[in-house]
Amino acid sequence: MTVLITGGTGFLGAWVARCLQAGGHAVRVLDRNADRSMLAAILGEAAVPDCIVADITDGEAVAAAAAGCDSIVHLAAMLTPACQADPPRGAAVNLGGTLAVFEAARRHGIRQVAYASSAAVYGPEGGTPRPDTHYGAFKLACELSARVYWLEHRVASVGLRPLVIYGPGREVGSTAGLSIACRKAASGEPYTIPFTGATDAIYVDDVAAAFAAAATRPPDGTHVLNLRGEVVDVAEVIAILTAMFPKAVLDAAGPPVPIAPELPRSDVEAVLGSLPRTTLREGLAQTTRFRGGSVSQESTA
Ligand SMILES: NC(=O)c1ccc[n+]([C@@H]2O[C@H](COP(=O)([O-])OP(=O)(O)OC[C@H]3O[C@@H](n4cnc5c(N)ncnc54)[C@H](O)[C@@H]3O)[C@@H](O)[C@H]2O)c1
Repeated sequence: MTVLITGGTGFLGAWVARCLQAGGHAVRVLDRNADRSMLAAILGEAAVPDCIVADITDGEAVAAAAAGCDSIVHLAAMLTPACQADPPRGAAVNLGGTLAVFEAARRHGIRQVAYASSAAVYGPEGGTPRPDTHYGAFKLACELSARVYWLEHRVASVGLRPLVIYGPGREVGSTAGLSIACRKAASGEPYTIPFTGATDAIYVDDVAAAFAAAATRPPDGTHVLNLRGEVVDVAEVIAILTAMFPKAVLDAAGPPVPIAPELPRSDVEAVLGSLPRTTLREGLAQTTRFRGGSVSQESTA
């Protein structure tokens, strides 16, 4: 298959590209950011795919990028702090961009879209989706529109809701602290993770495998799945990293992530088949081995 990845020069996009290529699929990337260094670090320079530089709100550009593709992985989005700083632009990019992707799918007869929703659709109480952030509100709206594209146009979709994704390459967003702490622990530089308390953390390669499965499965219906990793206290992450690197100088400060850590269980395997599960300890160890220039075989086995 040929798969378009929007937001493909970003952190998760590079890992999804790697996973799809490993499965024998061709990848094309659309992103407003032309910097391919993340792709080069995760895939190796020779495997960096075609990158189309365009804004996700530009419907014509998205449709042109999708021409000839069999499936779309839609990741392009503004993260929580950027949506908080500029909610109208956040809505245009996160909701308007998602609609541009579904319109492109509809126009080209692409019947399968896998898109990044987020556990941010839940607020601190959990249970029923009731986000406390604009970012979460836009993600929830995307899920509702995805359902309408299935009902009206038979574009099938899978929306995935991870909470904190961590792993080699993550540097931005309000929950990047776990990944940055791995880098700082390995170098011995002091670092304060900017949140405390419990959250759900999932390793990026496990998330990438779920997106690859969602993009390449036979089209069927409209699904939204909570993608659970391990519920962990930030203090435990610090303890694991300090045990690995006794010279690490880590602490944490600030409020907890405003999303209930216990995500309701979704039957992910019924929709996507069996998926890899990296333990927290192994995922943190792999993240500490990343040196920014490349992902070693050892660190991604
Ligand atoms: N990282 C997490 O913990 C996490 C958790 C839940 C959901 N998600 C979702 O996963 C997806 C990928 O997140 P990530 O962590 O890789 O973030 P990222 O910022 O590394 O990647 C997002 C990419 O989208 C691109 N983008 C932003 N605005 C754009 C625009 N207007 N037009 C085109 N491209 C644009 C950026 O340039 C970037 O490359 C996002 O949709 C995010 O909301 C992430």
